[in-house]
Amino acid sequence: MTILITGANGTVSKEVLRSLRGTADLRLLVRDRAKAPSGVEVAVGDLHHPETLDQAFEGVDTVWQLTAMGPDSTHASSNALWAAKKAGVRHIVRMSAIGAGHDAPTRNGRLHALSDIELAASGLGWTVVRPAFFMQNILGSVDGGTFYGAPGEGRIGMIDVRDIADFAAVVLRDPARHQGETYTVTGPEAIRLRDMTDTLSEVYGRPITYQPMSPDDAYPVLLKAGMKEWDAEVTREYLKAYDAGWGDYTTPTYTAVTGRPGTTFAQFARDYADQIGG
Ligand SMILES: NC(=O)c1ccc[n+]([C@@H]2O[C@H](COP(=O)([O-])OP(=O)(O)OC[C@H]3O[C@@H](n4cnc5c(N)ncnc54)[C@H](OP(=O)(O)O)[C@@H]3O)[C@@H](O)[C@H]2O)c1
Repeated sequence: MTILITGANGTVSKEVLRSLRGTADLRLLVRDRAKAPSGVEVAVGDLHHPETLDQAFEGVDTVWQLTAMGPDSTHASSNALWAAKKAGVRHIVRMSAIGAGHDAPTRNGRLHALSDIELAASGLGWTVVRPAFFMQNILGSVDGGTFYGAPGEGRIGMIDVRDIADFAAVVLRDPARHQGETYTVTGPEAIRLRDMTDTLSEVYGRPITYQPMSPDDAYPVLLKAGMKEWDAEVTREYLKAYDAGWGDYTTPTYTAVTGRPGTTFAQFARDYADQIGG
């Protein structure tokens, strides 16, 4: 039983690979073979060029389908779905996003909703995973004694990417059990960035204070950091929604499916101390 992992060099799929390694036959889809990790079968293909995908999907039973954020994400998702259909893939587990829907406050959420519906109507086995805001989004946010936060004052049920991957791995190993499910996966607590400073002060052994940044002030910073314009605009849409409390909830789904408690922010902060302040 071969599982194809798309987005294999990215934040989430790298962790999906870690979680599945040694427990299933794996193949990675990458655009650049030179960037692929060693010790796993690799197929080169580009989700925006369907003619490059046939070999990558051949002989695959289950696909972990992750598409990068962008205005053309539905194109990539549709091409992956079509390649899977032609190759006789049985089940696609699709990485979507929290709150995906036709009325989502972000373009990314509305585009994910379209791809989720296309998958559900495809005739293939399917499962949709909609994770919350990643804890890893705050890496690099502590500078000296200051923690800069763009999601403002809203509580967010944020999740550690390692948990998203472990959740996905459970589904990918036994996809038929999760047929037709749309899972909204959060961390174990909804927290404000302002309330993370106690934990961060403890981790770094010095006082850390919170400096909120408005979504509009964050926008040029994101561009300066190299983010594409569309991605920065959509990130600003998310930040505004989070500031207004849009992400203030948790679900019991992670524990119900994996049988384990989700990673707390305190644990995440200890594990990633060098990168949060990096
Ligand atoms: N950030 C959040 O808080 C959050 C929350 C919920 C859901 N999400 C969703 O998470 C997804 C992004 O996940 P991520 O952060 O792991 O992404 P990422 O780190 O940006 O990685 C994206 C991966 O996709 C690959 N890729 C890009 N274009 C491709 C193409 N045309 N063909 C084949 N592969 C391509 C990239 O490969 P290269 O290495 O070749 O560039 C990279 O490996 C998005 O769908 C987003 O909506 C994000």
